[in-house]
Amino acid sequence: MTSAERSPPAPAPRRVTVHDIAAARAAGRPLSMVTAYDWPTGRLADAAGVDCVLVGDSVAMVVAGRDSTLPATLDQMIYHGEIVARAVARALVVVDLPFPLQHLGVRRAIAAAARILKETGCQAIKLEGTAGQADVIAGIVGAGIPVMGHVGLRPQAVHQLGGYRMQRDAARLAEDAAAAAAAGAFAVVLECIPRAVAAEITSTLPVPTIGIGAGPDCDGQVLVMHDLVGLAFDRVPRFVRQYADSRTSIAEALATWRADVERRDFPGAAETLG
Ligand code: KIV
Repeated sequence: MTSAERSPPAPAPRRVTVHDIAAARAAGRPLSMVTAYDWPTGRLADAAGVDCVLVGDSVAMVVAGRDSTLPATLDQMIYHGEIVARAVARALVVVDLPFPLQHLGVRRAIAAAARILKETGCQAIKLEGTAGQADVIAGIVGAGIPVMGHVGLRPQAVHQLGGYRMQRDAARLAEDAAAAAAAGAFAVVLECIPRAVAAEITSTLPVPTIGIGAGPDCDGQVLVMHDLVGLAFDRVPRFVRQYADSRTSIAEALATWRADVERRDFPGAAETLG
């Protein structure tokens, strides 16, 4: 009997909950959240020990090559969400509610959020909105579904906002974040807002803030995985720090394999069966 056969299977890790997210903020421990869209990226994100894995509607841009997040559909979010939720054993999995479901009334939004929760196995949904969507957040939370708010640069409103640009209306941003928290959101993403505004919101909000392009004073940070690992094809925003150059690594591996095939070096003896 090998030692692998003797040892019992590793116990499943305890899942991060919304209470752990609140406790991290209370303890002053910075939160980390990264996007994932499929099995390998979900496994890698979870293995890195992040608190939350976000199945963002950025899937439409990053994976499908669209020029905005608007084309992402509920069925697509469920498809990707189910794969990621299966891949992630420990982190809290959050799935985006795609446009325009938070604008079609509370009942339709609850129905869509419930489908996401039931069909993916995720633990929370994220919803872009202003104070005008507070009733929708309250309705979904009232149904027992944890909601993460998302204010500031709301990519689903890119055409109304005039592009992917910094949002500077401090009073409006504070109002939107406060409305999301008052409606029951367990955390709020602050996207692309000035550092001072993010710091002020973070110091007054009763729930954690998770920043992207919002400076270092938020309770946590989120990035799109493909930006972080250098796998994005679009120009990455200035607020991204690129920790790897995966595009170059993959391109070099593919070119080397093709060359090996062409000079009949692949497959060699080691890769030949029988
Ligand atoms: O869709 C997404 O990836 C997001 C993050 C950028 C926060 O909303």
